Amino acid sequence: MKRFFFVLCVMVLCMVMVVPAAMAKAKKIRFSHVVSVNTPKGWAANEFANRVNKALEGRYKVVVFPNAQLYGDNQAIEALSAGFIEMAAPSSAKFIGSIPALQLFDMPFLFPRIQTVHKTVDGSIGDEIRAMFKERGLGIKLMTFWDNAFKQFSSNVRPLLKPADFKGVKFRIMSSDVLEAQMAGLGGVGLKLPFAEVYNALEQGVVDGQENTASNIYTKKFHEVQKYLTFSNHGYLGYAVIMNQKFWDKLPPDVQATINKIMMEVTALERQKAIELDKEQGALIRDYAKKGGKLQIFDLTPEQTAELQKAMKPVHDKFSDTVPPRWVEAVKAMK
Ligand code: LMR
Repeated sequence: MKRFFFVLCVMVLCMVMVVPAAMAKAKKIRFSHVVSVNTPKGWAANEFANRVNKALEGRYKVVVFPNAQLYGDNQAIEALSAGFIEMAAPSSAKFIGSIPALQLFDMPFLFPRIQTVHKTVDGSIGDEIRAMFKERGLGIKLMTFWDNAFKQFSSNVRPLLKPADFKGVKFRIMSSDVLEAQMAGLGGVGLKLPFAEVYNALEQGVVDGQENTASNIYTKKFHEVQKYLTFSNHGYLGYAVIMNQKFWDKLPPDVQATINKIMMEVTALERQKAIELDKEQGALIRDYAKKGGKLQIFDLTPEQTAELQKAMKPVHDKFSDTVPPRWVEAVKAMK
């Protein structure tokens, strides 16, 4: 009898202690972004979530909200800062109100190839940007940088091959002053609009054209409401992956270490994936043009590229108050 009671007590004790632990809910890490799942950022956010959720099962759960389901562009930074979400990965242009120096990455024709961006973010400029996030006291921790790709121009007015073709054309741009100056330098007009509004703005003629990467254009069907698309590769689009600082500070050290490790692994994979998706979705846009006939595709000759570069170059020196000129020079000197 005594033995029976002993076993019963042990069982009850186990239930009291173990069951609530097993039932305890994993803490949510809400990751909000604006693009489709089948883009470099969409892929990387999901890959990060899968890996964290496996490694920290039962303790933390990353939940990804794509397609601006939770917050649009600049709102996401404010929401993260206020603790309504824990993670986001806005493009450099969206930090205009918080870290305007990130407009370095919006400078037209500054980065000749994706490896130059990697050298920049992995080197001393990347360290300075990390320090800026800390010093500004925004409540935002910079985790890493992710790529999308280089941007392409499109319009409904005329093919865009030389500066004169941009005259009077209204383009949707992200919220960066550098991009506004880029369009003005070409004689066009830049209208700052949230990403989620681009398709309708193009379809309804609020704007005539836009600039974005192949993956963003293809997954949001911008090419279906445009007549002319030029593969111009005139500017870079990439992301600062951020976390709410207070949330980060409260994470146990082993969880921080796991998240950091996974973030570095995913960043390395994301760089590769971004190149693949850019190729794949660029080819799909070309296929659409060939089959549908509603869209005409143009590739710039080296002479046309040089002419556009010349027209946009003055933008590099216009923002010395917000983007350190020594950064611009350092990037230009990179091989
Ligand atoms: C845009 O607004 O065009 C991009 O920043 C969207 C994105 O996050 O890639």
